[in-house]
Amino acid sequence: MNYNEAIKKLEKYGQTHLLKYYEELAPDKQIKLLTQIEETDFSPIEALNDLKAPSLRGQITPLKAMEIYEIKARRDEFVELGTKAIKDGKVGAVILAGGMGTRLGSDKPKGLYDIGLTKPVYIFQRLIENLLEVVKLTKTNIPLYIMTSDKNNDQTINFLKQFNYFGYDKNYVTFFKQEMAPASDYNGKVFLEEKDQIAASPNGNGGWYASMDKNGVAGRAKEQGIEWLNIFNVDNVLQRITDPCFIGATISANCAVGAKVVRKNARDEKVGAICLEDGRPSIVEYYDMTDELMDARDENGNPAYGFGVIMNYLFRVKNLDEILEKKLEIHVVEKKIPHLDEDGKKVNPAEPNGYKYEMLALDMIHQLENCLPYEVEREYEFAPIKNQTGVDSVESARNLCLKNGILL
Ligand code: UTP
Repeated sequence: MNYNEAIKKLEKYGQTHLLKYYEELAPDKQIKLLTQIEETDFSPIEALNDLKAPSLRGQITPLKAMEIYEIKARRDEFVELGTKAIKDGKVGAVILAGGMGTRLGSDKPKGLYDIGLTKPVYIFQRLIENLLEVVKLTKTNIPLYIMTSDKNNDQTINFLKQFNYFGYDKNYVTFFKQEMAPASDYNGKVFLEEKDQIAASPNGNGGWYASMDKNGVAGRAKEQGIEWLNIFNVDNVLQRITDPCFIGATISANCAVGAKVVRKNARDEKVGAICLEDGRPSIVEYYDMTDELMDARDENGNPAYGFGVIMNYLFRVKNLDEILEKKLEIHVVEKKIPHLDEDGKKVNPAEPNGYKYEMLALDMIHQLENCLPYEVEREYEFAPIKNQTGVDSVESARNLCLKNGILL
């Protein structure tokens, strides 16, 4: 892209200020900036207009979960079905590890965080150890895809190489990068992070399949016969991955997606509740839960919206392809964004100063026809690490690991 083409693109989005320092840049830096302008999708900024509009939701009604007692009763049948799918090479696992982990406050990617007490136990190690259990059980190597971002890709790859993939066969590990989205001030003006660089951050975990497709990774997976992809957060150190019983239950229910859910531990617990919205599966985020929804009961007197998602979904690839062209909602999130000020000086704000633009994987659920919410024991499967201490922290996750007999 040349200078004139860049100006034209930026004019369309009201962002010509990004070329403010162009004339003073060395030729290679000029090319770098023009390339970034060419590759950047500025359309997410338009989501700011929607912020002013009242959010419109469809009609929310309950979606029944398959509960633990029912799963127990049919366990053998489900495990057999799921194991067969794995052995037939139809199942892959995808770690969503492109996030910045800002709340944890580590300067490294989250997967490199060490939660050990007497020996190093890295977050990636915990996930791979859990996946290896299924590999051993099924005597089948399961393709593992790891989504990174521009910000953490090299560090992630080097780390896993250094630790020899924690015993995973490296021929079954594929990395792919997610896309970046520009970050802006409160008026939608995109920040410069350097004179030759636009401030950008990973575009949220919702872009995972689009990125996988764009990188050619999804195409190769399909050629190899992958029909199901189990995606999950990097930060849940008890994550059960490619769980044969869950896979079998989702296949048996003939659903486009299975979602692992836990029984909420409080009516206002900060997890998204699984439901139907205008008859399609959906998730009501905790901040959208009204008193009416929190107090609603089913025919047995149990909470009608009592199951929360834990970001462990099994997607049928065929259905992902059908929704590939559909746009996901852009979530506008207030964040601290390092940038250059009016005088070109670097600012590292202590308080939020603008917006990042993210898509969320949970929004994909609503685009699909049907979903199986599958209940799991939270003490056994749900130990997310978002913060250093308190709720969903290194501290709480360590306690849960110890409860599960995992040596730290
Ligand atoms: P979170 O929403 O917890 O974000 O991500 P985060 O970046 O890890 O942490 P904070 O909010 O900055 O503290 C949930 C999961 O989605 C992944 C994360 O790596 C984590 O596994 N994710 C998030 C991505 O893969 N890409 C993104 O752009 C954002």
